[in-house]
Amino acid sequence: MFARHPRLRASARWGAAIWGVAAGAALLAAFAHPARADEVVNLYTSRHYDTDERLYTEFTEKTGIKVNRIEDSASALIARIKAEGQNSPADLFITADAGMLWAAGQEGLLSPVDSALLKEKIPETFRHPEGDWYGFSARARIIFYDKARVAPENVDTYEELADPKNKGLVCTRSSGNIYMLSLMGAMIEHLGAEEAERWAAGLWDNRAREPAGGDTDQLKGIASGECGVALANHYYFVRAFRLDVPGLRNPEDTSKIGVLFPNQDSWGAHLNISGAGVTVHAPNRENAVKFLEYLASPSAQAYFAAGNSEFPLVEGSDMVPELAALGTFKADDLPLTKLGENQAEAQRIYDRVGYR
Ligand SMILES: [Fe+2]
Repeated sequence: MFARHPRLRASARWGAAIWGVAAGAALLAAFAHPARADEVVNLYTSRHYDTDERLYTEFTEKTGIKVNRIEDSASALIARIKAEGQNSPADLFITADAGMLWAAGQEGLLSPVDSALLKEKIPETFRHPEGDWYGFSARARIIFYDKARVAPENVDTYEELADPKNKGLVCTRSSGNIYMLSLMGAMIEHLGAEEAERWAAGLWDNRAREPAGGDTDQLKGIASGECGVALANHYYFVRAFRLDVPGLRNPEDTSKIGVLFPNQDSWGAHLNISGAGVTVHAPNRENAVKFLEYLASPSAQAYFAAGNSEFPLVEGSDMVPELAALGTFKADDLPLTKLGENQAEAQRIYDRVGYR
């Protein structure tokens, strides 16, 4: 399993054929299990990927349960579920980052799910110990660098990004962003709080510019020559080969950028998840649990992960071919609940060193 053998392997088994097969199966399933109008599941989701349409229709075809959804940012959805209280129609909260799922749990919005199937399929490090939430795909927060300006051996660990030798080179997004908080949560676990604070101070001292924009903007900064090295989630780079991303549009832009999975000789690349949890007042709780269990099935895993070029978490699930280009790597096996538990301290540390 992934957690016990934290070396991710890209596979090219995913193929165009799966779409044709799924469409044919869908037609048969529609006759076998006609949808009952009264069975629904209401998703509050921060996802909005093309492959998700297949995910929802396949679930309806298999179960007869209609999928309703409200899409918004994770923080807007958390605020909405809170405001709706006991009358909330939300059955499931779906978002990215274990830190965000943990925050929803802290607000008392999630209800534990005890599912033998999910416990078997989803490695322990990628789910909440009581079942408040489960991860269904993984992303790695890794290091990108300007091949012309920076030697890879100078930037192949998270720690080194804070070394004075990288002064004026480092680009990140702002420290209040959940990805940065979760990364700091992991650094606190690995280095201890004191050393993690020195790391944050060094990272800030090495900045090439004030933090601004999202992960894509840090990669664009390398392409434009502003940044020598940047932290970003792996899929922001991968998607530049699939979508038209301004600033990363030309092969000259992306070919400038080197990709490093950090800390391959120590704890491995920082991982996070996309995942989901059942809400505390879910009016259709049973259907919500069915949806979670469906997400652990091979076809759902393929759709769910492919939407954002992420790594499926259930062993044996197909992966998008563009991930194969990244090769294999050692991943951090830290239980992701730690990212949430350390979230407040992570923000305090960034604030103390003046990291904006
Ligand atoms: Fe993202």
